[in-house]
Amino acid sequence: MSTPFLFSGSSHRDFAVKVAEQLNVFLGDVFCGPFPDGEINLQILSNVRGADVFVVQSTAGDPNYNLMELFLFADALKRASAKSVCAVMPYFAYSRQDRKDRPRVPITAKLIADLLTTAGVDRVLTMDLHSGQVQGFFDVPVDNLYGRPVLASELMKMDLRDPVVLAPDLGAVKIARAYSNHLEIDFAVIDKRRVNSEQVFMTTIIGDVRERDVILVDDMCSTGGTMAAAARLSKEHGARRVLAAFTHGLFVGDALEKMFSGGIEHILTTDTVPSPVKYDDRVKIISVAPLFGEVIRRITCNESISDIFY
Ligand code: R5P
Repeated sequence: MSTPFLFSGSSHRDFAVKVAEQLNVFLGDVFCGPFPDGEINLQILSNVRGADVFVVQSTAGDPNYNLMELFLFADALKRASAKSVCAVMPYFAYSRQDRKDRPRVPITAKLIADLLTTAGVDRVLTMDLHSGQVQGFFDVPVDNLYGRPVLASELMKMDLRDPVVLAPDLGAVKIARAYSNHLEIDFAVIDKRRVNSEQVFMTTIIGDVRERDVILVDDMCSTGGTMAAAARLSKEHGARRVLAAFTHGLFVGDALEKMFSGGIEHILTTDTVPSPVKYDDRVKIISVAPLFGEVIRRITCNESISDIFY
């Protein structure tokens, strides 16, 4: 077995360190700073000739910078004769624009896929892509992991009364069904209309939430608008308590306050993105870095990854 060679981009070094610990390897040396004009000045300092290299870069926070840095990593590694380059993107930015839902808009998920492979990426390892179909935008292997098993097992430890999984929009039905199967409980769904990137409009819940503990699930939370509106609607429909579980907690701006004031009591999420905010014990963050470490080991040994999930 060849040993995976791991590098960390600058977006989420804590996560990369945990992955390295899981794999019992050191992070490769790299110099990365700005040129005087703001361009990125990057140099790989370790010898990577013939190596299977994994670059950990979560593309949240400053997606444009983080993506550009990742492209430069891939280009530099390929030119330094790395055998393969895997982009380890715990959170894959720009994946929400995966089709032309309005006239004259880009399909950013496809563009990022093209840019990654042009830069030299041979494989992508990510988690809970906004839609699974984004894998088809790549002509290289994409391993899309699920955050559900770690979040669901945390939910199972909680004292929930007559719980029901609630999808805050039709796009979340698939993930809600997976949670409902995993937890062996009902699921319901909300009819959501988006007014703009920060405002949503919800009036109807398809399913029964009255006198029940509602678990809102989604792939991600950005401004918290979706979760807050869904919590409010659940309460209006007689929900007893509302909790939220999502993989990527971007927590943009006052997302947390918005969700708490909407009536969410507890939030469960993972560490796929570095947390930009301080949180109290109403928020629980479960690390998926060990899972990424194990998957990288399996990729290096040509072992099955789906075995972990089924
Ligand atoms: C939308 O389709 C996504 O799954 C999320 O529901 C959405 O992106 C969350 O955004 P926000 O937190 O800003 O409402």
